[in-house]
Amino acid sequence: MGEIISFGIQKGGVGKTTVTAISAFLLSRDSKVLAVDFDSQGNLTQFLTQRNIYDFTKHTILEAVKEQNPLPYIQPVSESLHILPAEDLLATFSRYVYQEYRGNPTTLLRETLAAVKDAYDYILIDLPPNLGDQTINALTASDYAVALLQTDPFCYDALDRYLETLQLVQQQTNPDLVLAGILTLMMDSRTTIDATILEQARKDYEDVVFRTVIRRRSRIKEFSLEGIRQRTKIDVEVLRPYEDFLKELKERVHQKG
Ligand SMILES: Nc1ncnc2c1ncn2[C@@H]1O[C@H](COP(=O)(O)OP(=O)(O)OP(=O)(O)O)[C@@H](O)[C@H]1O
Ligand SMILES: [Mg+2]
Repeated sequence: MGEIISFGIQKGGVGKTTVTAISAFLLSRDSKVLAVDFDSQGNLTQFLTQRNIYDFTKHTILEAVKEQNPLPYIQPVSESLHILPAEDLLATFSRYVYQEYRGNPTTLLRETLAAVKDAYDYILIDLPPNLGDQTINALTASDYAVALLQTDPFCYDALDRYLETLQLVQQQTNPDLVLAGILTLMMDSRTTIDATILEQARKDYEDVVFRTVIRRRSRIKEFSLEGIRQRTKIDVEVLRPYEDFLKELKERVHQKG
């Protein structure tokens, strides 16, 4: 049965979409993966398909949740990597949930993904940078949550609130949700403030913090423009921390059993 894993934090531009896209790509080498773009910016869609997000208008996750049927909207990126795309109109999700939908506003995504859960080994969900209805729906749909922490003081404060939100979801809508861990991103090893925040996170959250730290590498930014490549030595090298993270993630996911 597929494991549903969401990647989130209510801070913008910390690398959520990038880590979701690269993880989906790397996992799809030997597993069947569905990437779910649940952010109206559509960045995951653009990253993985290398197409304009408006090519997918009316064929997105929004239609899938409205019909509670993802099947007509799943697009293949490769044989083993599929995507449920998003574009701007996903911003109307909350309006739909409260004005038109008659069911439970928090379980819509979970019910939608239930139809395909068994068809994939991993379903990865990319979240928007806020704690709104999409985040609550995604956490309610997830088996595991990865919280992202950019080593920046603003992001550190947000992490606590994200973890509180996760606990609320565990109490109210998804008791089976497991915090897979906190992944630290884009640490600039030249600034002591970044090192201090990482140290603080390890002190406050101990083993919950993944051992792997994803550092800033300019090649990673190029992947979003030209697709993820693994041909040159540099490519292999910049992807290595993501591979290390996935190794740790798999250990934690399979531990639950
Ligand atoms: N390891 C990395 N090294 C260098 N640049 C990176 C890395 N990870 C992400 N970036 C770049 O940082 C920017 C923000 O990344 P990304 O879009 O993944 O963040 P996000 O958290 O999803 O943002 P948003 O909150 O807007 O959805 C992008 O330009 C991306 O290419
Ligand atoms: Mg993003």
